[in-house]
Amino acid sequence: EKGGYDYFMLKEIAEQPKAVADTLLGRIDLAGNLCLDEVRIPASVLREVTKVVIVACGTAYHAGMIAKYAIEHWTRIPCETELASEFRYRDPILDQRTLVIAISQSGETMDTLMALRHAREQGAKVLAICNTNGSTIPRESDAVLYTHAGPEVAVASTKAFLTQLVACYLVALYLGQVRGTKWGDEILSVIRELSEIATQVDEVLETMEPVRELARTLADKNTVLFLGRHVGFPVALEGALKLKELAYMHAEGFAAGELKHGPIALIEQDVPVVVVVPSPRGRSVLHDKIVSNIQEIRARGARTIVIAERGDASVAPYADHLIEIPVTPTLLQPLVATVPLQVFACELATARGNEVDQPRNLAKSVTVE
Ligand code: M6R
Repeated sequence: EKGGYDYFMLKEIAEQPKAVADTLLGRIDLAGNLCLDEVRIPASVLREVTKVVIVACGTAYHAGMIAKYAIEHWTRIPCETELASEFRYRDPILDQRTLVIAISQSGETMDTLMALRHAREQGAKVLAICNTNGSTIPRESDAVLYTHAGPEVAVASTKAFLTQLVACYLVALYLGQVRGTKWGDEILSVIRELSEIATQVDEVLETMEPVRELARTLADKNTVLFLGRHVGFPVALEGALKLKELAYMHAEGFAAGELKHGPIALIEQDVPVVVVVPSPRGRSVLHDKIVSNIQEIRARGARTIVIAERGDASVAPYADHLIEIPVTPTLLQPLVATVPLQVFACELATARGNEVDQPRNLAKSVTVE
């Protein structure tokens, strides 16, 4: 049932192009418009939404953090993303015009379920993004958009994450479409690019051998740091989470702009730092700032592992290891940038002799608060 792979996680990483394509299937029509009638929240209700709140845990929370950038940019609706376990305990402000999005692979995560129950009690509409048909979270929500990742067995979430991102982009673009924001042209072109993204995920998977080799050389390290900006920041957090749960190593993700506010003190000789570099096109200011972050940490002895868009010549001189990813629109970059981090964590776990599919102390779905 592992389809010739040593671990379910490896199989699930390899299945990502299909999972992404399946999640898009039937949701974009030939004219390039989104058809999400299945969501069954009338366009008239979506037009009235004044705030979006996303609740989720762990990896699903990272997908939600990325969704915030997409939703605010394409729809201009204020959006906040919150850890489900924190949400209801701070008496959040919600009303009938709040759209709450609960993201969960299993559909059984108790923290997320309690958050959505609280939201509905306050009158908010809840849309679930879920991978498990008929599970509790979609059953208790007003609407559901299923991800089509297929069953995910490994405790560490991989293909579910990519499909959660796809579902979040679809919701963001759909909200933009029904509300007719000024980004209409951009929305159409991103929908087109999204249709190509499965092929790009496949391209990344084809080039992972150097990442595996690199991971094996780092098996005796104590710490790995991850830096990113904009949507690269949640990608950095996700890279760190994968490493913690699989390799049992100390790993931390930072927003690169925060480096100078404290974390740069952690940089010492030979500490591996993975940096997710935004595209040099689009938000190029961010790109240039991160390039100077790479210079700063390298000058202090860090071993820089740089994930950058193919053809981005400016980072090469400061990268001890360069991992190239395909050219994508800025907001979609997490779909390709996360894959090397999954492979990296899986290989490190193997090199350290850990149980990849069943890491210690963890359960696939966390059904207690
Ligand atoms: O089933 P869910 O998506 O609600 O699960 C949420 C988290 O427990 C889950 O993503 C967890 O963080 C994974 N083990 C991460 O790889």
